[in-house]
Amino acid sequence: MDPTMPNLYGEISEFAERYYHIAKTGPILNHPSKKRLSTIENNTPPKAGRLIRDVIQEAEEILSYQLSTGHPRNFAFIPTPVSPVSWMGDAITSAYNPFGGSSVSGAGVCAVERSLIAWIAERFGLPPSAGGQFVSGASMACLTACTVARDQRLNDHTRCKGVAYVSEETHFCTRKALHIIGLLDYQIRTIRCDAAFHMNVDHLRQAITEDLEKGLSPFLVVATCGTTSTGAIDHLDQIADIARRHKLWLHVDAAYGGSVAFSSTHRKLLNGIERADSIAWDAHKWLFQTFSCGTILFREKSHALKSFASTANFCRDIEDEEDPHNPWNYGIELTRPARHMKLWFFLQVLGMNRVDQMIGRGFELLDLAVRELNKLPHWVVMAPPSLAIFNFRFAPENVNQGNLDKINERVSKELIARNAACIITTRVRGVVGLRMCTINPRTSDEDICRVVKELDHAAHAVYKDFRAAETGMTKDAGKV
Ligand SMILES: Cc1ncc(COP(=O)(O)O)c(C=O)c1O
Repeated sequence: MDPTMPNLYGEISEFAERYYHIAKTGPILNHPSKKRLSTIENNTPPKAGRLIRDVIQEAEEILSYQLSTGHPRNFAFIPTPVSPVSWMGDAITSAYNPFGGSSVSGAGVCAVERSLIAWIAERFGLPPSAGGQFVSGASMACLTACTVARDQRLNDHTRCKGVAYVSEETHFCTRKALHIIGLLDYQIRTIRCDAAFHMNVDHLRQAITEDLEKGLSPFLVVATCGTTSTGAIDHLDQIADIARRHKLWLHVDAAYGGSVAFSSTHRKLLNGIERADSIAWDAHKWLFQTFSCGTILFREKSHALKSFASTANFCRDIEDEEDPHNPWNYGIELTRPARHMKLWFFLQVLGMNRVDQMIGRGFELLDLAVRELNKLPHWVVMAPPSLAIFNFRFAPENVNQGNLDKINERVSKELIARNAACIITTRVRGVVGLRMCTINPRTSDEDICRVVKELDHAAHAVYKDFRAAETGMTKDAGKV
């Protein structure tokens, strides 16, 4: 052992034991006091080093102030129920600190990245010419895709006339990406959604026709496979038909829903995705990886070269003439970690049968939550449950919309305060409701049944308070 190193090995195994105990029994949402937050914020590095034990203890305390993303009763956003195998793979990879930007300096990890990307692309049904790379997440994947779409479909003369199409439910990372690649608001069309939150394809057709008549240059349509709010999957085949007809680039944001490509029972939900020009998918969502483990895939690997291929005198020794695969030529980053190695590690250790079951569990939990909630009066479903996302709200009759919004907001807060569950609110067609995302394979059936009961108790208690306050106000109004 290196004598300058503290006993890291012992510390790490003790840490793992502590961590899993806290992850199971600790708070779902933990906030520091204002005082502690201010101490953390105003801290500066010490002149003399401290004992590693003390530093680990403080780091754990700081890290504990979070939404416990992997807690079995955290149903907020797209939770990240991480497999311990993933963080172990991440830690091992970090120790080697491989340079993932060049296949000369990181030959092993770059070969694994190519093989994983080819395998994922095949799962999505893309042709053998497909390629891509791992990126920090879907936001970067979308930026990479929009850049390539612009360079493949527009030229110096048409750039200022280029138009991109997104839907009302498209994640905001797309609009950000479109602005970064130089589009102004007049070049972005937001297409309305149908009753089930899919991009309305008739409106898309109409918008493209109108733009062509104005002499503009439609070049990109972004479809979503698993919207963040409701889990809806756009009509990929129909959108692909429209894209082909008008020579638009089709990017599919499958950040969340793309994981279904690895499910033996639900793969058909993705039909049509194989026609995409590019796909974004995050393994750090529904494939149980630590942040950041996103991918961008291109139908034609070589398309990315036009946008990104670069060289410099100082790169002579890391450019491989026989193997022109250096990742920096295919994406935005030069220095990049081997983000994919934890996924490789995870897939090797668990095997695809187990991964298939873990994804399938998300669907089972959703069905159970829907069944349990449907047994109760006064609860309404706000959007068709899709993938593993469920939107609903407590809506007894004779309560106005404003108060229903407030009641549901309070129900969410009550559950968090009691450490019963983290179920946050969202707006569906302007109305506040509760949203559950049930992708954690560590969530038990009992967790779901208990949480639905807690929701109902909390809702009735909050409703009673509202009624009492209203009655009090009415009585007071009569007083002189
Ligand atoms: C559908 C969808 N697209 C894009 C993103 C952004 O992904 P990231 O946070 O990995 O950049 C999200 C995040 O939840 C998402 O749900």
